[in-house]
Order: sequence, then structure tokens, then C-alpha cells
Amino acid sequence: DGPAPRIAVLGTGYLGATHAVAMAQLGMEVVGVDTDLHKVEMLTAGKVPFHEPGLPELLTEQLATGRLRFTTDVAEAVAWADVHFVCVGTPQSKTSHAADLRFVEAATAAIARNLTHDALVVGKSTVPVGTGARLRALLAAEAPSGLRAELVWNPEFLREGKAVDDTLHPDRIVLGGASREAEALLRRVYAGPIAEGSPVVVCDLPTAELVKVSANAFLATKISFINAISGVCEAAGADVAVLADALGHDVRIGRQFLDAGLGFGGGCLPKDIRALMHRANELGAYPASALLQQVDEINMGQRSRVIDLAVEACGGSVLNRRIGVLGAAFKPHTDDVRDSPALNVAAALHLRGAQVTVYDPEAGDTARSSFPTLGYATGVDEAVEGADVVLVLTEWDEFVHADPVHLATLAGHASVIDARGKLDVARWQDAGWTFRGLGRAAA
Ligand code: UDX
Repeated sequence: DGPAPRIAVLGTGYLGATHAVAMAQLGMEVVGVDTDLHKVEMLTAGKVPFHEPGLPELLTEQLATGRLRFTTDVAEAVAWADVHFVCVGTPQSKTSHAADLRFVEAATAAIARNLTHDALVVGKSTVPVGTGARLRALLAAEAPSGLRAELVWNPEFLREGKAVDDTLHPDRIVLGGASREAEALLRRVYAGPIAEGSPVVVCDLPTAELVKVSANAFLATKISFINAISGVCEAAGADVAVLADALGHDVRIGRQFLDAGLGFGGGCLPKDIRALMHRANELGAYPASALLQQVDEINMGQRSRVIDLAVEACGGSVLNRRIGVLGAAFKPHTDDVRDSPALNVAAALHLRGAQVTVYDPEAGDTARSSFPTLGYATGVDEAVEGADVVLVLTEWDEFVHADPVHLATLAGHASVIDARGKLDVARWQDAGWTFRGLGRAAA
């Protein structure tokens, strides 16, 4: 079998940093490459630049083995490695719904130009279908003559907050467009997870690219489905949480991703469905595009719905009213506020003249740097003190298990709006709160 392949990971964001650490954990020698010196210095010092449970410990452990290092020197890393993982970001473009591919293209070109021997380039970033084919052409054009660089797509499905486990124990390993040799090499790279049961799906390049965005589109659709039904529940006096549990007993449906509420946000789902919408349109696949347009609209509509509830709770205007916002992260167990529904709602209420005080157990700092004009509290009590309305926008345990009796002493006869459907309604009402939730009849 020869020595274990040497791994370069280009891009050390959520995806790349986790992937680099996981590859080292699987026993390979790994170099993580980033153009951002600050990130490289932090990671080299054993510090993870974002909040991800379990990752700092594993990073420290793997740095200590000597198998893992980080650098800004792409030429050295590319010359050294056999397998090059492209893990850079594909943000939504500033001018349209399309994905901005400039980082993926730059990383691929950097690999091509610095090759000193034949190598395997493995795309992991989430890209529009058809990107791999273009990158193959780019590799062929930029690689030194006589050298062969094969390109394979191997999408990553990790969730924030569960990134380490998702990377080491993936639900599936998709290998798109691999030659027999490339497939064998990647089966060696992933020998650990494969031995532990992760299935391998071997397919062509466009299928691999599409698996990833389709998975995210399906998850987003599931959330928007239950949110659309939650509107029917509200109007008809039904309870969406009970309904979701009942639906979930059907194994064909499944209970996961049926939590109605403020909808999805984060660095992936919103941008990925918009990019797929855009790409489907380009390809003339209009039904897919129309479906995803609805998914996006329903999702954004939930944010408006919560803003409306807050206005209503304040008697028609939030001007100069005090609003306590519990939650800033786009979901619990992360400090990520990219496209966070919670901060979106908080900022909209601030714009309407409310005095908004936000508290989040982990995302306070990231929130403050993106939305410096909002007020920030250092704890639940401080956010709730004197509030006319309290909004629960991210379902952190700390909020779900907060004591409504104690909080009522801080906020008087306030309203609470449970935008994630996780509070115990009776407990809050018994403590004197006017309770409003999404997807259940008004109290
Ligand atoms: C997602 C995918 O799950 C992952 O496979 C992919 O690789 C990247 O995108 P992530 O962005 O980390 O992962 O978050 P996820 O846990 O999927 O949650 C996304 C959003 O959906 C959050 O804002 C969450 O609050 C919301 N959500 C989730 C709901 O509103 N209801 C649900 O039932 C589930």
C-alpha cells in the first residue's frame, strides 16, 4: 500500500480546519493552508478561531503528534502533499443569488501552479453543479506541462456544532468523477470511517456536486414545509409541535427538521438554496427553481411574522419600547451569526425604534461586531430586566430552562414570544407572562 498519503487542506474555515484536524486524527500527515496569517497563527497556537465543541481539544492533541501543521505558504504545501482538499468558502455573490466561486478558482489555480508531481485535487466546498468540469479545465491549463492533476468531488455534509463527529463518522462518503486510482487513494484516506460503516457512493462529477446542494435544499424544504403548516395550525387552533411529533412517527417522514419556528439561517442553507435556485434557472430546470423560491420566501416570512408579533405585543408600535432578545446565533451550540434569523429580527425591531437588548451565551461577541448598534447584555436577567416584550429567538438550553417566575419579577407584566417553540407554555403563563408562539392558537 505504500506510505499514508500526505494531505494538504486549502482553506481553514469551519470546513477546512475541521477536515485538517480530522485527517490528522485518522493518522495522516496534514498541512492546513490559508491566505489569512491570523488564522494560521491561531491554529498553530492550538486555538480554533470559531466555537466548535470538541475541536480545540482535538486540534491540540493532533498538533502534539507532529502530524498536523498550518501555513500560509501554498507553494511549499502543494509541493509536499499528494492529496489536496479544496475547502474554501463559496459565499453568495454580492450582486445575485449565484455562488461566488473566486476562492475555489484561486485555490485550484494555486494548486495547479505549484505542483511538482502528479497529484489528486479533491473538491469539498459546496459548488454549483458544473463547477468541477470548469476546474478540471483550469487545472489542465495551469499545471506545469507533463504533470497530471486529477480532480474529484467529495462534498462535505458537516453540521456546525457537530462538525468533528460528522467529519469522522459521515453518513455517506460521496466520490464524484474519480478514476480507479483516485478512488483507491480516497478509500485509503477514509479507511477509518469506511471501516466503521460509512457507506461510499461512487458517482460522476455533476451528481456528486448536486448531492450536496440537494441535501441542503431538502432540509430547507422540510423546515419551510412545517413552517407553512404552522400558519395553518395557528389559523385553525391546532398545535404544530404535536402535529410534527405525530408526523415524525412515520419513518418515511421522520421527526428531524420539523421544528417550526423562526426558520433556517446560517452560513449554508440560505445561500445554498439560493445558489441552486439560480443554477436551476440557468439550466432551464424551472420547477426546481420555483420550489426553492417558495422555500426561501416561506423562510423569510417567518422572520416578518415574529416582527409583527412583537409589534402587536407592544400595542402597535415598538418605538421606544424595551425588547429583550434571547439568542443571536443562527442555532444553539455555535457562535455563528451568519444570516442569523435572530439578529435579523433584532435589527429590524431596532430600526423601528425599539430599545433592543440581546443576550446569547456564545455569540455575543460575533453579534456585536456584525451589529454594533444593538444593545448587548451579559446574561438573561439583564436582557429581560424592564422589558415590554421578551423574544426567544435561539433555543439555547439556558433559555428553555430559564425560570419564568424569576424572570417575571424582572419584567413585570411582559409578553414573551417563543419563536422556536421550545418553552413550556403553561409554566410561562402561570408565572404571569402573556405568551405567544408560532404555530399554536393565541393564548
Ligand atoms: C447545514 C446542514 O445540516 C449540513 O448538512 C450542511 O453541511 C451545512 O448546512 P448547519 O448550517 O450547521 O448545517 O445547520 P443545521 O443544523 O442544519 O440548521 C440550519 C438552520 O435550520 C438553523 O438555523 C436551525 O435553527 C434551522 N432549523 C433546523 C429549523 O428551523 N428547524 C428544524 O427543525 C431544524
